[in-house]
Amino acid sequence: MADTRESWQTRLGFILAAVGSAVGLGNIWRFPWMASENGGAAFLVVYLGIVLLVGVPGLLGEFVIGRRSKRNPVGALSSLSDSKGWSAFGHVFVVTAVLLLSFYSVVGGWILRYFGASFTGAYFGNPGAYFSSINYGFEAVAFHVLFLFLTAAIVGFGVKGGIERATKVMMPAIVVLLVGLAAWGLTLDGASAGLAFYLSPDLGYLQTHFLDILPAAAGQALFTLSLGAGTMVTYASYLGEDRSLPVDGTFIAGLNTLVGVLAGFVVFPILFALGSGAGQPGAGAVFVSLAGAFAALPYGQVVAVVFFGVVALAALSSSISMLEIPVSFLVDEYGVSRRKATVAFTGLFLVTGSVNALSAQVFGFVAGTLVNLLLTGGLAGFLLFTGWVLGTDAVAELRSGAGDLGQRLATPWLYAVGVVLPLFLVFTLLSSLLPCSASNSGRAPSSRSPSASS
Ligand code: PHE
Repeated sequence: MADTRESWQTRLGFILAAVGSAVGLGNIWRFPWMASENGGAAFLVVYLGIVLLVGVPGLLGEFVIGRRSKRNPVGALSSLSDSKGWSAFGHVFVVTAVLLLSFYSVVGGWILRYFGASFTGAYFGNPGAYFSSINYGFEAVAFHVLFLFLTAAIVGFGVKGGIERATKVMMPAIVVLLVGLAAWGLTLDGASAGLAFYLSPDLGYLQTHFLDILPAAAGQALFTLSLGAGTMVTYASYLGEDRSLPVDGTFIAGLNTLVGVLAGFVVFPILFALGSGAGQPGAGAVFVSLAGAFAALPYGQVVAVVFFGVVALAALSSSISMLEIPVSFLVDEYGVSRRKATVAFTGLFLVTGSVNALSAQVFGFVAGTLVNLLLTGGLAGFLLFTGWVLGTDAVAELRSGAGDLGQRLATPWLYAVGVVLPLFLVFTLLSSLLPCSASNSGRAPSSRSPSASS
């Protein structure tokens, strides 16, 4: 099967697909929400630190496993080790992917709905009531199904013909449109107050709330970089040998962070322009506060169309990476054709997504606690595997195609991913579970369901 296995056409194609996976609702919906609940700039500082110190080495861990094995996460762990335990553990990633897309496509459906409603101004009169009327129920199911079909259509066309082709168009469009939106945001009256909240860290707050901010920032860093689910293992499994993983990884993390920060330049000025400040957000921020702002601000309707269009593209470029995990699993492990595998899992997601679309409680639990736990535990598992099972092979894999700096950093990197990072991940996991950090509603949407926050 290995010789017929798909691969990326170009290096840029891989990079844009990986950035496409990373850039998503995490940047535009979840990041400003987390930042606003955890001290704004104070959160930004910790988050950036974690992206650099945990995110980039973690990303390289997943890349190394993927490129070395040329398999999906289950096949990767079983082919690179003799242990049945690791092979069994690999199946956790299929479960994680299923849970991820089950809630993500519901939010994707909301976005499509708002994109359409922006043309007619349907939510302009009463944004709060509008959101509450569409967030859960049969209409939410219908839009989730629409979003899922779009996702499946791209994945069904394959790695080159579907994912690579789509993300090559989507990513530049997202960046250009976001820059335009940020430029518009900066002209608003509240821009300076919004940016002050966003960009000048309150060191006192950072000190007193550090243990609350830490797990929130770590959870956000993992989610936004698509780490811990096996996405990056899968995408790297379609790579040729000759590329520098450290360079690609740093670039991908950097571009993703840039988009996240840029999204803050759009969201915070808008929130402050309306005088709602940062206290309002929550999971419904994009749908309630921002939608309300669009109704009230100059050129709001045009901006709303562009904004929800950008978010829809970003969500889609991430959801395809979630569907690709179980699809590649069926293709690699059972020799099923891509089309059939895509249809089979789409059928499953029709059901699991609908459950999320019908119940705020299920949605909150899956999108929050469960996904959070699985991503953190999943990344810790991948990194322990890299450090303790692959060991020197991981160093060799990282070095292959890397420049001087990559060569020199490979061994210290192995200690980091084998020992330091797993300890850090377990610590953040525990600290988020402890009641003392309950004020950190931050890690995920669990603590405030979108409906509650409206
Ligand atoms: N990174 C994506 C986002 O920010 C979410 C994601 C998580 C995608 C895990 C794949 C795997 O929206």
